[in-house]
Amino acid sequence: MFLGVDVGTGGTRAILIDRDGKIIASCSAEHSPIHSEHIGWAEQDPQDWWRATREAIAGAMAQSELAGAEIEAVGLTGQMHGCVMLDAAGEVLRPALIWCDQRTQPQCDWLTEKIGFERLIELTANPALPNFTLTKLLWVRDHQPEIFARIAHVLCPKDYVRYRLTGEFAMDMQEASGTLLLDVAHRRWSTEVAEAAGIPLPWLPRLFEGPEICARISDAGAGATGLAAGTPVAAGAGDQGAGAVGMGILTPGSVSATIGTSGVVFAATDAPTKDRLGRLHTFCHAAPGRWHVMGVTNGAGLSLRYFRDTFATASSYDALSALAAQAPAGSDGLLWAPYLFGERTPHLDPEARAAFIGITASHTQAHFVRAVLEGVAMSLRDTFTLFHELHIPVDSIRLGGGGARGPLWRQIQADVYGQPVELLEAEEGGAFGAALLAGTGVNAWPSVEAACAATIRVAQTIAPQSAAAMNEAYRRYRKIYPALKSIAS
Ligand code: XUL
Repeated sequence: MFLGVDVGTGGTRAILIDRDGKIIASCSAEHSPIHSEHIGWAEQDPQDWWRATREAIAGAMAQSELAGAEIEAVGLTGQMHGCVMLDAAGEVLRPALIWCDQRTQPQCDWLTEKIGFERLIELTANPALPNFTLTKLLWVRDHQPEIFARIAHVLCPKDYVRYRLTGEFAMDMQEASGTLLLDVAHRRWSTEVAEAAGIPLPWLPRLFEGPEICARISDAGAGATGLAAGTPVAAGAGDQGAGAVGMGILTPGSVSATIGTSGVVFAATDAPTKDRLGRLHTFCHAAPGRWHVMGVTNGAGLSLRYFRDTFATASSYDALSALAAQAPAGSDGLLWAPYLFGERTPHLDPEARAAFIGITASHTQAHFVRAVLEGVAMSLRDTFTLFHELHIPVDSIRLGGGGARGPLWRQIQADVYGQPVELLEAEEGGAFGAALLAGTGVNAWPSVEAACAATIRVAQTIAPQSAAAMNEAYRRYRKIYPALKSIAS
């Protein structure tokens, strides 16, 4: 039996799986709301993640009625990029700046100026973006030097939880790629970037491949969770890396499109494929010896939630979906640009703004909901367009997240991407992938590939039906961002 723990943004989820990938137990615990002192700021208390982890693990263990000693290994995943700062005694120095905190553009500009845009991409495969950990650390340097002076360890969210479970400072390659301190091509910390940024290397944890066993549950960790002391803990991966393992996205040509709060198109590659303009993230994969690229839409599922909460008369997603189904493909010309939280791929513009375009008096609420679903899919198509430009193959597309749950959004995605899309029998997100990495770490499966082959099955393939209408809509959609930009400036 393997335990996967996903330290997400809204909550932490623990699942137990067996060797067939069957879910034996699953329990979630919510986090306290994100603290945002100013617009664009986002902080969470690492101790709160640890509290939620204890509750989720204890809940899953109680559900399964298993003894701690029956858990063969633990795998961790979680929200990426967050910056946890600890002092020499391992105490949290301040709340963590998390992935969606947007305050660090000045630090991004400083770093880009210091190292050079092209050199930074050469060294880390990525440009300086406010989401990435290093820029958050530099903000603390600039604004809270008294805290910066006391830093002894820097971790990402799930790695702080690992520290509490095991007493070890460790990080996997996929997570480390999102810090902007990793030499992604060589899978080691970049001394050049750390030195240029003034970050002492001893602050950074030891690096491991995703399935590697990097630590064991300590007595304190066992006491807090009901797991047995000595249980092996695999390095795991950030939520996108573990999610991709959980969907079997490992070899070139296999791609996933996951719509959660944000939306991610993720492709596995067998080499670090860099975009010299930095529009895609190029990271190490959770599977050893592999890499991946991904494009991120900040406001994907968020668009639908925002529309529901602000304008819709229906309150359930099923009712909204039924309404949207009354409008034709292409929403009779109505378009939605989902830039509610600025945009990452392909625009890299935290100032981008959302818009409905082309409203007429004959558009009903059904058209608006459908336009939201289509607009989100079109923003993900922008990543497919970049993949095409960079010769990244797309042989199959697997759907994940809330966007895979209803038949209408699935069909819209097939139509907008212009390719068949696959629905998996069970899509359990990052916690499932983390559990597979844990099992691989203790040789339940000989490789991550074998773990996926033993546990992941396609339930349905959905062919495009209205690709021509959606191509036309996408042609118009592409003109929205530059036009809005010219209005904003
Ligand atoms: C990935 C990213 C998000 C966060 C939160 O780059 O920012 O997926 O990990 O889920």
